[in-house]
Amino acid sequence: MNDDVIIVPMSPAHIAAIARIEAECFAQPWSARSLEEELNVPSAVFLTALSGGEVAGYMGAHHLGGCAYVCNVAVARAFRRQGIAAKLVRAQTAAAREAGMSEITLEVRHSNAAARALYEQSGFEWIGTRPRFYSDPTEDAEIYTLTFGGGSNL
Ligand SMILES: CC(C)(COP(=O)(O)OP(=O)(O)OC[C@H]1O[C@@H](n2cnc3c(N)ncnc32)[C@H](O)[C@@H]1OP(=O)(O)O)[C@@H](O)C(=O)NCCC(=O)NCCS
Repeated sequence: MNDDVIIVPMSPAHIAAIARIEAECFAQPWSARSLEEELNVPSAVFLTALSGGEVAGYMGAHHLGGCAYVCNVAVARAFRRQGIAAKLVRAQTAAAREAGMSEITLEVRHSNAAARALYEQSGFEWIGTRPRFYSDPTEDAEIYTLTFGGGSNL
């Protein structure tokens, strides 16, 4: 656990570093421009994890129709297994709950064991599969949801 980590709203100063993390993690990374556009989207809640002032990871979601949809979560390789993604998930979950959302939901590649373990450990429930949802490479998506009904286990 890294106690030196703080979670803050994503700001223009974080964009270049987050785009580098995206490129490190994904075959189809979000560009700096796409990330920057999210700063002006009213439904967007994008959070940055700072470790000793350095951008270590981020997590984005949209609050739409009473539900929080997670777009992405990524942590730079150098900062992994320090509890940073778990902290981002807790912060997004708290933001969704505070905004009055009824649930927070996401899709993850079937083969992404690290992310699936992260969500399961964070209290999300597997609710189904979207066949062939992803491309490059083609793969099923697993859907995970955390519903805010009368208190959660977070
Ligand atoms: C998935 C990812 C965000 C996890 O980030 P992280 O900061 O290393 O995760 P944490 O340290 O907060 O780990 C929390 C829990 O997730 C699970 N986990 C994280 N990495 C794991 C791994 N490599 N293997 C198995 N479980 C893992 C564990 O349950 C872990 O708890 P533990 O450390 O007590 O065992 C990171 O590996 C990443 O950025 N991957 C590439 C991008 C990606 O796949 N994003 C998800 C898209 S849906």
